[in-house]
Amino acid sequence: MATPLADDHGRVATDLRVSLTDRCNLRCTYCMPAEGLDWLPTDDVLSDDEVVRLIGIAAERLGVREVRFTGGEPLVRRGLVGIVARVKAAHPGLEQSMTTNGLGLARTAQALAEAGLDRVNVSLDTVRRETFTAMTRRDRLDDVVAGLAAAADAGLGPVKVNAVLMRGVNDDQAAELLGWCLERGYDLRFIEQMPLDAQHGWSRDGMVTADEIHAALAQHHELTPAAEPRGSAPAELFLVDGGPATVGVIASVTRPFCGDCDRVRLTADGQVRTCLFARRESDLRAALRDGASDAELAALWVTAMRGKAAGHGIDDPTFLQPQRPMSAIGG
Ligand code: GTP
Ligand code: 5AD
Ligand code: SF4
Repeated sequence: MATPLADDHGRVATDLRVSLTDRCNLRCTYCMPAEGLDWLPTDDVLSDDEVVRLIGIAAERLGVREVRFTGGEPLVRRGLVGIVARVKAAHPGLEQSMTTNGLGLARTAQALAEAGLDRVNVSLDTVRRETFTAMTRRDRLDDVVAGLAAAADAGLGPVKVNAVLMRGVNDDQAAELLGWCLERGYDLRFIEQMPLDAQHGWSRDGMVTADEIHAALAQHHELTPAAEPRGSAPAELFLVDGGPATVGVIASVTRPFCGDCDRVRLTADGQVRTCLFARRESDLRAALRDGASDAELAALWVTAMRGKAAGHGIDDPTFLQPQRPMSAIGG
């Protein structure tokens, strides 16, 4: 019998997000500085065996039903295909997905699908080359476009596209990006920028809000709320011009969905984080490397969940941005 990962606010985590590396091959301006960050030392990062073991504990003992691989950029992790294959063999019922920037996906999509990956979400903020290069500081738009196509061909769908709008940079391109995704059958979601950048440069005024995004899209399309219940999914979905295609808005800041949160995170260095904005982490890696049994690791994980805060608290006057940036926590 599994012990659920329940917190003190009545929520149960069934969606495990595993960061496989804090490294990334893009340098998105809303995420990290041009020179990159001080990456984790290799020895601190969980090995493939350790990752597979912890996912197994979550699936077998803690009621986790879905695992999502994130980064940094998960595709830069060499053992990725092997990890997916081993998890699939040991836990065939566990859904496996990945959130990626798409670089290199054209080469690996087929192998990932064959290994047992179910779905991918790809980050793409613009389809204009100059804007892409300015936002990511790399001229790699073609690789992402090819990665998306390969993912769809490999059956890693429905393929979702995540886009962050930045004021004065790409906020005039929302409808253009939507049109591009509609033509190709990708499910686009716009994300409100959260205070999780390494440079601590986020400001509420700088953030393009869900209402602004909706207004911009509504100039070009008829948007009607999708009927299906949102549940714990972060995106509010709208039918585009009567459907069936939809567009999503993830309003993490202006309409937080913390009350329905079903997530728990494992960082690349083996820390359980109950929330993107958690102020504390629980060290599973130390226990694991000290020889803890599966039962002991599961018990530590259950205890860690109790401390999950009711919400992210971005609006609290005492809010402090977490020490780790998004790239080190996992998107
Ligand atoms: P599916 O809907 O299952 O495909 O996944 P998802 O939308 O949860 O995953 P994805 O990794 O694509 O996340 C999209 C965006 O949602 C992220 O970039 C974040 O901005 C936001 N997000 C993901 N997880 C959380 C979370 O735990 N809290 C908050 N506030 N935002 C989150
Ligand atoms: N706020 C919201 N989304 C962010 N992402 C990266 N940094 C932020 C932030 N500060 C997005 C990326 C990617 C996903 C993993 O998170 O664009 O789609
Ligand atoms: Fe859950 Fe924290 Fe995300 Fe809110 S911010 S949805 S509590 S993980």
